[in-house]
Amino acid sequence: MQDLAGKHIVLGLTGGIACYKSAELCRLFVKAGATVQVVMTEAAEQFITPVTMQALSGRTVYTSQWDTREPNNMPHINLSREADAIVLAPCSADFIARLVQGRSDDLLSLMCLARPMDRIPLLIAPAMNREMWAHPATQRNLMQVAADGATVLGVGNGWQACGETGDGRMLEPAQLLEDVTAFFSPKLLAGQKVLVTAGPTFEALDPIRGITNHSSGKMGFAIARAAREAGAEVTLVAGPVHLPTPRGVTRVDVLSAQQMLDATTRAAQSASIFVATAAVADWRPATQSEQKIKKDGSGRTPVLHFTENPDILLSVAKSERAQSKKLFCVGFAAESENLAEHAKAKRERKGIPLLVGNIGPLTFGQDDNALLLVDANGVRELPRAPKLTLARELMTEIAARLPDWRV
Ligand code: C5P
Repeated sequence: MQDLAGKHIVLGLTGGIACYKSAELCRLFVKAGATVQVVMTEAAEQFITPVTMQALSGRTVYTSQWDTREPNNMPHINLSREADAIVLAPCSADFIARLVQGRSDDLLSLMCLARPMDRIPLLIAPAMNREMWAHPATQRNLMQVAADGATVLGVGNGWQACGETGDGRMLEPAQLLEDVTAFFSPKLLAGQKVLVTAGPTFEALDPIRGITNHSSGKMGFAIARAAREAGAEVTLVAGPVHLPTPRGVTRVDVLSAQQMLDATTRAAQSASIFVATAAVADWRPATQSEQKIKKDGSGRTPVLHFTENPDILLSVAKSERAQSKKLFCVGFAAESENLAEHAKAKRERKGIPLLVGNIGPLTFGQDDNALLLVDANGVRELPRAPKLTLARELMTEIAARLPDWRV
């Protein structure tokens, strides 16, 4: 998806082994539609060559403030003025200290200092050894660069090139792309707390087996991501799915409908928007065998009895918080036919302001979908598109409905 179409990014590399990841980051920015101008410090050139970065960005790389290619001989001015953002990845401990001090004796630091701060944001992806990261000097410097207007994108945790394990790794290129995309998104849901349920539930029969369904969780995960991009604080209650947690989202993993109800009820106490995308099992086995139910060779099949599961959406929609209009509830309906009719009926039955209908067999496991939005005023279609695109459109639709609904 061309999430960065029309954006011009100055990608600054400083000295660190994580420079090898910057090649991939550059490629991802370009694939997302951005134009990328790479600027490297002398130390960065020890780790990766400008040739690699030139080939991936399609532009010659700048490394020196004395570069004579610029007619006015001021690359620090010219390069920064064109940018929609300067992204420093990796940003070394030394470079962070230099930013704090306002030093400007190489092209990249000079450019950061000379950028118009009100127009050109500075995003930094630190990368360093865990002891360097934990050092009070680094933590002090990070607080100061943030106070001076930079956005610190955080670090990863894990194995480090030095052989130690801990905080300080540069975030992965895909995570940085997600963060930079989120940075550019309009903050339509700033101040909102969004709660999303996603995926199937798993209802155990015995310690080995259980009942579940084909929900992939992709729509709910896309909604959690879109809500975070729109500036909300997001909690995602996820059934058993193997999807990566969207950046900046708090994930609570559950298995059964009962566990999903408990986690959702807890989070709903402070949420302001609830989107129920989970495909909750309607029934669970009435009893759960403590040991594996064994085949005894007699040819007799076990008889299973079921109990109805709680309706999580209905229970949240009936809560005092939702009834007093502090919590905007959105339901999903997966139907196989007569979508508008079923969706309207479901909205009434659940007593919620917005219901989103989709055709189940056409969406399960897919990366795209088509949605039908049903509210008190009628029906609106969001035509077939990637789930993330639809999730972003849905966030816009929700944000637009909030002011009228709350009065
Ligand atoms: O009643 P039905 O299952 O068709 O309604 C679908 C909507 O209700 C979805 O938003 C789904 O997440 C929610 N739901 C729920 N708990 C259930 C069943 C459905 O939250 N037990």
